[in-house]
Amino acid sequence: MTSDFPTTRTKTLVRNLVVVGTGLIGGSLACAAKKNALCERTIGVARRENVARKAVELGVVDEAVISIEQIASRLGAGDVIFIAVPTLSVRAVLSDVAKTVAPEVTVTDGASVKGSVLNDVLSVYGKVPPQLVLGHPIAGSEKSGVEAFNPDLFVNHRIILTPVKETSEQHRALVEALWRGVGAEVQELSVDEHDEILAATSHLPHAIAFSLVDTLTNNSNSTNIFRYAAGGFRDFTRIASSDAIMWRDIMLANRDAVMRAIEEFSADLHTLKNAIGSGDGDQMLDVFTRAKTARDHFTKMLDQRKNMAKVPTTMSAMNTFRVSPGGKVAGSIRVPGDKSISHRSIMLGSLAEGVTYVEGFLEGEDALATLQTFRDMGVEIEGPENGCVTIHGVGLHGLKKPEKSLYVGNSGTSMRLLSGILSGQAFDTELTGDESLSKRPMRRVTKPLAEMGASLVTEEDGTPPIKIGGGKKLKGIHYNMPVASAQVKSCLLLAGLYAEGETSVTEPAPTRDHTERMLTGFGYPVKKEGATASITSGGKLVGTNIDIPADISSATFFLVAAAITPGSDLTLTHVGVNPTRIGVINILKAMGANLELKNEREIGGEPVADIHIQYAPLTGIHIPEDQVPLAIDEFPALFIAAACAEGQTVLTGAEELRVKESDRIQAMADGLIKLGVDATATPDGIVINSGPIGGGEVESLGDHRIAMSFAIAGLRATAPITIKDCANVATSFPNFVQLAQEVGIKLETD
Ligand code: S3P
Repeated sequence: MTSDFPTTRTKTLVRNLVVVGTGLIGGSLACAAKKNALCERTIGVARRENVARKAVELGVVDEAVISIEQIASRLGAGDVIFIAVPTLSVRAVLSDVAKTVAPEVTVTDGASVKGSVLNDVLSVYGKVPPQLVLGHPIAGSEKSGVEAFNPDLFVNHRIILTPVKETSEQHRALVEALWRGVGAEVQELSVDEHDEILAATSHLPHAIAFSLVDTLTNNSNSTNIFRYAAGGFRDFTRIASSDAIMWRDIMLANRDAVMRAIEEFSADLHTLKNAIGSGDGDQMLDVFTRAKTARDHFTKMLDQRKNMAKVPTTMSAMNTFRVSPGGKVAGSIRVPGDKSISHRSIMLGSLAEGVTYVEGFLEGEDALATLQTFRDMGVEIEGPENGCVTIHGVGLHGLKKPEKSLYVGNSGTSMRLLSGILSGQAFDTELTGDESLSKRPMRRVTKPLAEMGASLVTEEDGTPPIKIGGGKKLKGIHYNMPVASAQVKSCLLLAGLYAEGETSVTEPAPTRDHTERMLTGFGYPVKKEGATASITSGGKLVGTNIDIPADISSATFFLVAAAITPGSDLTLTHVGVNPTRIGVINILKAMGANLELKNEREIGGEPVADIHIQYAPLTGIHIPEDQVPLAIDEFPALFIAAACAEGQTVLTGAEELRVKESDRIQAMADGLIKLGVDATATPDGIVINSGPIGGGEVESLGDHRIAMSFAIAGLRATAPITIKDCANVATSFPNFVQLAQEVGIKLETD
């Protein structure tokens, strides 16, 4: 069974591809597989003879039969059966397959509900046979039937596979390869997750669309209603012309999950009805802005998917950067808003009394995660719209208990700063994050917060999720921070807003002071004495205007790009040059970079400048340790500068880099070594000797800054560099690729 697996036996990926059901999905997969030369022969199984004939006539399949028995004896290893019949008909097909088809044949399906198919499998086979790989293509159209086939139907669409523990890896891999081969993105979910998600995102909207059109049709004035109905009606109800039987089957097959989704929706609709009925405009605005923002975000995600590659074939391909050698950088650009300040603008704006207007807000996933958490706690926030956000502050004690746990994705800043704010609330909360954040240390905040009287529970090793007990009486403490961390300092100062008396924090080295500056901007005094910042509770924040400068951490990639590439001449405008953030400028200057700050000014309490940089040869240095906290996020890019600098660059005292979105010391050392650079990771830093940067494939480990750093390395590389797993660039710099291309970096996302 394994020894004669198809890849070694046939020239094509699959020998015979059998589609049971030659409608839109089955027919489209058959002709897509043929078009992409993925199989030798396609065979259709259609119950009705005239459909079978038509499928061959139309060229959908090479051959068509009316039952599996007719061809079962011809099938063996290397053949794939794709069951593409309505969900409730899958069981009958499975019985035929179980009776007649050999266990070497790979069997997969495309039914829209996976739990019911799994039950069918168990009742037919008594167990899940290894050859069976359940799946669901999230592609379709209102068209159905054999004539509807479309060989490009799956290009750039998602296929969800729901393998179970009994599923054989080889059969799973073959099905995945088949879908990828027709241009689809393949992802995996558990059967339950799949059904729950689809109930909410597909089955519920279909139920609503069918029901709405039915309601309007039953209206005595229905002819007139349809006559005057415009684009909104058309867009909203398009899916109500989908296949009725198929949708009846889906609702029956996924009844429980659909019921939960309908009930949740009904409750929300009822609330909205009451708001409309009672003329509660605030409540309506709340719902509409929340929904509008979510929908805008979704539209952007769709656009990004469209733009990231002309014909992206896989999900992983969409996440891959490919940078070609050569080029230089020139022009004048403004990178997006500062991430740290964006987070804080939402937090303090929400806790303020009155309205806060923000400009230059970073519309990256991290800052949007913070924004969403405050919406989840009842704060009305308009936007972001071109970087503008309006926050209707609720005051220090106006947050409401969120219905669910607060999810902050990849964002350590959200989680650590929110821990401080949430410790002072009257209600319980839970903070969760993505896989990377779930591995990051949180004791640095939970420990001092506990000293203040807060109740926080993490996993045993101090990682998220963090459960925060509400209603605790906090008391001010003095805390000597063991690590130089702006997140810890900010967390404690924010908790201090709710703690009895004074809360003070002493830092071992200066770290970014945006929290202190912004609190002052909101009219809340922060005392600063040397390395200590203190706050006393009892005051209030007053809504204000915030103009967020461009993020020096994002600007860094272009500063380094220009610094290492002969012929470069670049201006980065409106960059935040707060003295606690300019380590990168100091370090680059010490290495010999030719850069100058122009038009220096102060905007909303933060220093801002335009940075002009031209190429000049760099020299390796021992980076002064006092610069480490001031350039903490900029080291991955600086390591690329080091590889291009004459001699040796040594970094010490930077063990914090090991607990960022990835272990940045190891990730960069591994990548540099792969590209032929002489780099040695040390416990608290790295030693890099200058040398040519070669080509090759490097891992970003899902860390945005690693991905962008290797992207700029391409300027000085001798061959193309491929960087994997780059989707998280959207957490801090959503338009990085576009700006990189604009200034002259040969970066593609293929
Ligand atoms: C941040 C502080 C830094 C930095 C992070 C953002 C902030 O983390 O690395 O990207 O906004 O306060 P630490 O404070 O943990 O060093």
